[in-house]
Amino acid sequence: MKIQPVRGTHDLFGEELNKTKIIENIIRKIANNFDFNEIITPIFESSDLFIKPLGEHSDVVLKEMYTFNDRNNSSLTLRPEYTTPIIRAAISNRLLEKLPTKLFAIGSMFRRERPQKGRFRQFNQMNFEILGSDDALADSELILIAKKILDDLLLDKEFKLYINSLGDRDTLKAYKKGLTNFFNKYKKDLSIDSQSKIDQNPLRILDSKENADIKICKDAPLISKLYSYEASKQFDEVKNLLSSSGIEFIQDNFLVRGLDYYCKTVFEFKNSDLGSQDTLIGGGRYNGLVKAIGGPDIPGVGWAGGIERITLLKESKKNENLNCHLILIDEKVKNYGIETLKKLTEKGLSVYFDYKYNLKKSLAYANKKEAKFAIIIGEDELKGKSYTLKDLNNSNQQKFNFNALILKLSKWIILMNN
Ligand code: HAM
Repeated sequence: MKIQPVRGTHDLFGEELNKTKIIENIIRKIANNFDFNEIITPIFESSDLFIKPLGEHSDVVLKEMYTFNDRNNSSLTLRPEYTTPIIRAAISNRLLEKLPTKLFAIGSMFRRERPQKGRFRQFNQMNFEILGSDDALADSELILIAKKILDDLLLDKEFKLYINSLGDRDTLKAYKKGLTNFFNKYKKDLSIDSQSKIDQNPLRILDSKENADIKICKDAPLISKLYSYEASKQFDEVKNLLSSSGIEFIQDNFLVRGLDYYCKTVFEFKNSDLGSQDTLIGGGRYNGLVKAIGGPDIPGVGWAGGIERITLLKESKKNENLNCHLILIDEKVKNYGIETLKKLTEKGLSVYFDYKYNLKKSLAYANKKEAKFAIIIGEDELKGKSYTLKDLNNSNQQKFNFNALILKLSKWIILMNN
């Protein structure tokens, strides 16, 4: 029986795992610079946490959630996103007493979407959330963090920031109505998929990738015509603050995002090398969501970024670790070998323990793995309580006792542990 991985999932190892770890380290370092606290929540939650807040008619709730009944018949869902679990955890653990609360999280999400490049059914996200501030500075701080993370991770790769405002909650309701009326006029020209969204979810038609829809959307009404004075002022302030922090952006009047909880500022960072799954980071304001989940009536804003999409763009970094191969060339030195392995690793060296008992094969393998040194032990070394150190760059080799060996490698040991 050969069991295949579940469609849309992938195993992480080797180069991709190395990149993922580097990405996570940078995220944690930057989160620390901005004094955000990390939180880790369970992978599954009560299904109710997601259904209403994400929108009963959203694609995620309608088609993509992994929902199951456990043995008590309670409905559970593998988290499809992290904002609602973070808020649930902040409420459950009383993290909302001194506001604003600034939290970040890294973890796996689950959505049953059609797999393609940059789109998986289990994928990893980083999330940054500020709970309890309606100040435009919170929106701007979060965008600044997102840009800093992308700058540090993607170096000279290009990405663009798109922003929009969805106005207040009432604005969005009125806008949906206006869109429904507008799209009904062109119903027969829209794609079948968009036709089915006219009444329940007309916002989604705006980000349809079908040519017929794109043509009609060009003349769709603009949400900006419906902004309240307050919402309009706040959007201007966000744009002004972004300019002050030297962040370039493109105002995209049709950027509406895919989840129902957004209002006011929404934004996305995109990269054109990724094909159709081009959004690296997306987020926005969600005033009203904390209350809807059973917490106090406080505002919130945040974003999430897909780690696999960043991995796809990130250049590989050569592994600079000192990789040292400890090679046994005779079965008689097994005890001396394992004792040496213990002593070397205690000194902080990274050691690949090689017990093929064939010097030629072992050296070829060490060279293939780009190891810097080989420490070779055979009967002679055992007799003399010594070690032969071979520099694999120039093939020079010399015998040492243990202390002299460590002294010789000390420069590398210090480098490795810093
Ligand atoms: P989202 O736009 O659904 O927002 O997802 C955020 C990011 O997660 C996307 O921009 C993308 O990079 C990545 N992503 C989403 N789906 C997949 C997938 N199937 N495979 C690979 N990567 C994917 C949210 O999740 C909101 N919770 C963001 C937020 C936080 N808003 C406020 N706070």
